[in-house]
Amino acid sequence: MLSTTAIIFLIIFALLIVFKIYMKVTTGWCRSHTCLVGKTAIVTGANTGIGIGYDTALDFAKRGARVILACRDEGRAEEARSRIVEETGNKNILVQLIDMSSFETVREFAKRINETEERLDILVNNAGAGGTGDKRSKDGHVLVMQINYFSAFLLTNLLFGLIKKTKGSRVVNVSSILAKYARYFELADVDKFSGLCYVYNYSKLCNILFTIELAKRLDGTETTTYSLHPGVVKTEIFRHAKGTLKFIVNFVKNVFLKLSTSEEGAQTTIYCSVAKDIERYNGAHFEDCQEVPPYITARVPGLSKKMWDLTKDIVGLKPEEMLI
Ligand SMILES: NC(=O)c1ccc[n+]([C@@H]2O[C@H](COP(=O)([O-])OP(=O)(O)OC[C@H]3O[C@@H](n4cnc5c(N)ncnc54)[C@H](OP(=O)(O)O)[C@@H]3O)[C@@H](O)[C@H]2O)c1
Repeated sequence: MLSTTAIIFLIIFALLIVFKIYMKVTTGWCRSHTCLVGKTAIVTGANTGIGIGYDTALDFAKRGARVILACRDEGRAEEARSRIVEETGNKNILVQLIDMSSFETVREFAKRINETEERLDILVNNAGAGGTGDKRSKDGHVLVMQINYFSAFLLTNLLFGLIKKTKGSRVVNVSSILAKYARYFELADVDKFSGLCYVYNYSKLCNILFTIELAKRLDGTETTTYSLHPGVVKTEIFRHAKGTLKFIVNFVKNVFLKLSTSEEGAQTTIYCSVAKDIERYNGAHFEDCQEVPPYITARVPGLSKKMWDLTKDIVGLKPEEMLI
């Protein structure tokens, strides 16, 4: 006869398995055959072998694109480049260094790209970090916010001349479902450490607000933008976490949730980057390769515009750089 504890344990275990199967079968796959020969794409944070950015870059390379791996670690980035070239036969893969925790390197990166590239069809703002606690960048900002949001905002603005002149270009911002739980977010929180989980959730909400405001500003142009949640993917995103957060993250990763591969996790980014006829969804948020209603936290009237105005001052955008 099983004890009550054992029965409860078995029920929880069975529910987890059912949930895991459900998550697996509901994973969205990008079925688009769009060819990217002659097109250029930048993917930030593309170096990690089990990362969403790497698999996104790999897919673009298979489609024939010129792919720029925008990474901070030269060794790991070169290793990723070699693997992509070997696997796809596409030699048009480049490494350009960028450290999203430093505005200076974001500016240097954008300068190099603007000087050397003729076009930019796809910019994927993918680089992200979590669990870095209350650390600040050398620019003095909350590190997670700077890596996940401020630098993506700055980079997009600095590359906008190139993006604008490329017909049908897209800016794709990798957010997270955790933005849903950024419930108490206020403008003043944008550069404040609000707790280990909240600060990450807030940064991911900022990715969505940025997309919404960018879309409004792109109205009437040939460029569009999308934000997305990639799924719960077994990557190293919370590798900096310590203590209880580390325990929770490992539990969720290894026992509980979807445990998608990074290939599965890259599907919605790829979809937003290459799927045909999604322009009418300019500014929308996607999950599992489908548009979803905006999260309640992103629906506060006027918030995206206020956030834009505040962020341009935080990142030190100069009047002549405000092309959007
Ligand atoms: N994994 C998930 O379940 C999940 C869920 C929702 C959203 N996301 C989002 O998906 C995106 C990709 O994350 P991932 O899960 O693939 O994690 P990952 O494997 O850790 O990849 C993150 C990438 O960002 C790069 N990066 C971090 N800090 C950087 C910096 N200062 N400068 C330049 N690059 C930097 C990393 O480079 P290094 O190797 O040099 O650190 C790495 O290439 C992130 O925006 C994340 O927030 C992930």
